[in-house]
Amino acid sequence: MDGQELKIKTRGFDCRVYIRNDLLGEVGRALRLLFPSGRALLVSDQNVYPLYGDRVIESLTAEKWRVKTALIKPGERSKTLAGAKKLYEACFEAGLDRNSPVIALGGGVVGDLAGFVAATFMRGVPLVMIPTSLLAQVDSSVGGKVAVNHSRGKNMIGAIYPPRLVFVDPLVLKTLSLRQFRAGAAEVIKYGIIEDGAFFRRLEEEFDRLLAAEAGFLAEAVAAAVRSKARVVEKDEFERDYRRILNFGHTIGHALEAATAYRYYLHGEAVLIGMVLAVSLAEQLSYLDPAPAGRINRLLGRLKVKKPPAGLTAGEVIAKLEHDKKRRRDELVFVLPNQIGSALMVPVNDKKTIAAAINCYLGGNLNFIEKGTDN
Ligand SMILES: NC(=O)c1ccc[n+]([C@@H]2O[C@H](COP(=O)([O-])OP(=O)(O)OC[C@H]3O[C@@H](n4cnc5c(N)ncnc54)[C@H](O)[C@@H]3O)[C@@H](O)[C@H]2O)c1
Repeated sequence: MDGQELKIKTRGFDCRVYIRNDLLGEVGRALRLLFPSGRALLVSDQNVYPLYGDRVIESLTAEKWRVKTALIKPGERSKTLAGAKKLYEACFEAGLDRNSPVIALGGGVVGDLAGFVAATFMRGVPLVMIPTSLLAQVDSSVGGKVAVNHSRGKNMIGAIYPPRLVFVDPLVLKTLSLRQFRAGAAEVIKYGIIEDGAFFRRLEEEFDRLLAAEAGFLAEAVAAAVRSKARVVEKDEFERDYRRILNFGHTIGHALEAATAYRYYLHGEAVLIGMVLAVSLAEQLSYLDPAPAGRINRLLGRLKVKKPPAGLTAGEVIAKLEHDKKRRRDELVFVLPNQIGSALMVPVNDKKTIAAAINCYLGGNLNFIEKGTDN
């Protein structure tokens, strides 16, 4: 297969990631080489399947796969145990055995839910990911975290269960909404800041091409981001320590999402704000010099930060941070960049400094907050 191919070594087996424009027609043949069963379940959502389902099904049936399709409603609300239960029924109806793959065609919601089902059906059947959102291509499809939500919290029931194969076709991003694309782009920049300084410089030079979703550059950027995540995951698959640098921007980002009941921000939008505020903390606490901080802010600022919802207070955001802290042995740990391409985990318990950073955003004092409506 042309394009980029990389292997991620995990505890169980190698996960192969193929990255190439126009890749969907290859799925059937690649699966045939790995799995003898000939039966599969394809999980997708009602937005993605009409766009790309036929191409994947054609490629599978051309290789004599017997495929059952299960579609979920788009969006976070489908990522539940009830949703998983419906998919277990579909697994039985598809006649899956322990070697039959579950194939996830969609964004992070489809990937997390189908991945959870693959991890648990018959104690685990092979998982194949075909991520179709930018966030899923550079983040959720690689790394092996699968989960469903519980009424007490997001992603509370889950496992580490890496896919066997991941097919990343950046061309499918053409149909993604601009808002979703920009939210994913925030995660792309994240890798440049915390792990790959050369990639950060490339993004500084070519950011317009990324934002324009230019096919050639998009494939390069997605591949660099996936490689970066793969390096981190290979060092620490089970998030004992180093992998937590991937949570850069997530401490405040999660708190913003939770304080707004997961309705106002997309995940990547909240993480973008979290990254900007973490850079400000890193500078104030003298972990990061002003010059790299300025460069990071200039790049992040090109995505424009979503303005805060009316009435949200720093106290409400900090209350959500505190809730997180209780779950993590009473310590608030931030991932702070210490130079471009590297980050540290730093306990920060000075609430005044944290509140000042949050108020800088809530008070409208960041110079790249978007104008316009609340949605
Ligand atoms: N497992 C992990 O490591 C990990 C990491 C980050 C996020 N996540 C999870 O990922 C989820 C968010 O993922 P997401 O941002 O992809 O959201 P999503 O799956 O809801 O997709 C966003 C929207 O875009 C649509 N869409 C997807 N691809 C499209 C395409 N090519 N063309 C047109 N429309 C398309 C979807 O139907 C949906 O409406 C959350 O549940 C989050 O918890 C998981």
